[in-house]
Amino acid sequence: MENKKYYVTTPIYYPSANFHIGHCYTTVCADAIARFKKQEGYDVYFLTGSDEHGLKIEKKAEEAHVTPQEYVDKIIADAKDLWKQLNIEYNKFIRTTDDYHIETVQKIFKKLYDKGDIYKGEYKGLYCTPCESFWTETQLVDGKCPDCGREVYEVSEEAYFFKLSKYQDRLVEYIETHPEFIQPVSRKNEMINNFIKPGLEDLCVSRTTFSWGIPVSFDNKHVVYVWVDALSNYISALGYLSDDDTLFKKFWPADLHIVGKEIVRFHTIIWPSLLMALDLPLPKQVFGHGWLIINGGKISKSLGNYKDPREYIKDYGVDAVRYYLLREVPFGSDGNFSEELLINRYNTDLANTVGNLVNRTLSMLTKYFDGNIVKSDARTEFDSDLIKLVTSTKEKVESYMDKLEIPEALDSIFEIFRRCNKYIDETTPWILAKEENKDKLKTVLYNLLESIRIGAILLNAFLPDTSKEILRELNTSKVSYDDTNKFGELETDIHINDFKPIFMRMELKDE
Ligand code: ME8
Ligand code: MG
Repeated sequence: MENKKYYVTTPIYYPSANFHIGHCYTTVCADAIARFKKQEGYDVYFLTGSDEHGLKIEKKAEEAHVTPQEYVDKIIADAKDLWKQLNIEYNKFIRTTDDYHIETVQKIFKKLYDKGDIYKGEYKGLYCTPCESFWTETQLVDGKCPDCGREVYEVSEEAYFFKLSKYQDRLVEYIETHPEFIQPVSRKNEMINNFIKPGLEDLCVSRTTFSWGIPVSFDNKHVVYVWVDALSNYISALGYLSDDDTLFKKFWPADLHIVGKEIVRFHTIIWPSLLMALDLPLPKQVFGHGWLIINGGKISKSLGNYKDPREYIKDYGVDAVRYYLLREVPFGSDGNFSEELLINRYNTDLANTVGNLVNRTLSMLTKYFDGNIVKSDARTEFDSDLIKLVTSTKEKVESYMDKLEIPEALDSIFEIFRRCNKYIDETTPWILAKEENKDKLKTVLYNLLESIRIGAILLNAFLPDTSKEILRELNTSKVSYDDTNKFGELETDIHINDFKPIFMRMELKDE
């Protein structure tokens, strides 16, 4: 039997300030993908975590008059609370300050040194501290960091180097022969033309000018360059080079690294080269998503232009936030974020479409049949179109998710709810009730409830709380994902549970 495993990761975040909605974006998308794959029967491992070393954190801690460890501990506790509130179902949260990670990074560094792929030399170059990136003169834009536009500094120090140049040809060959490796495809062209083709220089992989990092085990005035430290998390988390590497054997190579577009470079040049040097297989895909933008600019910890995402969860509910993040922006593109946009999305899709449908249908069932789910042999001329749409949705969702077209997948589920609202207009149940046309009325309500049940199951990966709540209200035990392409599974000998209207319309909360 084919081994259906799926290993998906988010980047590990810098805990240099509290996390913002941009971090939630990556993590919620990864969570939906992980949950979806689980539903499809894959054995899924979903990794997230934090990237805690480096000069930037050392400086922040100094400013706050605490140790770097104290500084990051507080932010990580907060981040874990945020992930819990967002219903993020990760398998592991790795911290680069965890002992096992530190040991593995030291072993990796030593292994590459012994092999001759890491050697000692002298580093002279330009460094952007906030981005933890080295640049060459030609890469600068107006003499500043091409990523963030800030000052870069000359550094000169004894350092270890990784023979990145040695892997250039193999890397190009791999990228060219694996078109799915870098996605979306525009990012692939950018990597090849702007970064690899001009020539890869060996990479400086140790620093001596600060100490908040993983010491090189055989030369401990050096700490390991943060990107080598950070990228290694994807394998150290699985126990690579440890006493127990069962997870590593099972899950490596990764199926999907989800990363923001500005760090695709590290994941498609440095990371695969390190893996080739370690004789390990390369990840199957690196997907570079776009940024959430506020008022025309990237949301940024250093600019402080954002609210704690938990405020939005508190005001509008977790699934309103998840829905916005998953639905609003084509996965891969940049998109705007504002509280108004979030509320608009909420009102048009969650309140007017799903909320309205579920609330109306359950109210009608209560009013006309005392909440008993009933069925009859009567038909209306609108049934077959509805049923066809509902039963074909599972396949559509799967095909969108295979391409990581998350908003499209979600929208095809909402197509069910929109179609049901139209079905209500077409069949006019309130007129059937007046005409005492109970048989047709039974059919109409059954078809609506069955479509809602199927829609709710399909929503599970995206809006888990909403999915569970609707299925609880229906009081059904038929919750199998695999059967969502079959119509008529909903029981008829059951009585719906008490329900509160879901997704009532909302107004912008006053500041
Ligand atoms: O880059 N919109 O950490 P980080 C969308 N530690 N995504 C955003 C965003 C926004 N406004 N702001 C940030 C790092 N992100 C490294 C990763 S991985 C081995 C090491 C995304 O905290 C960003 O694109 O600066 C990145 O993918 C992630 O948050 C972490 O950013
Ligand atoms: Mg960043």
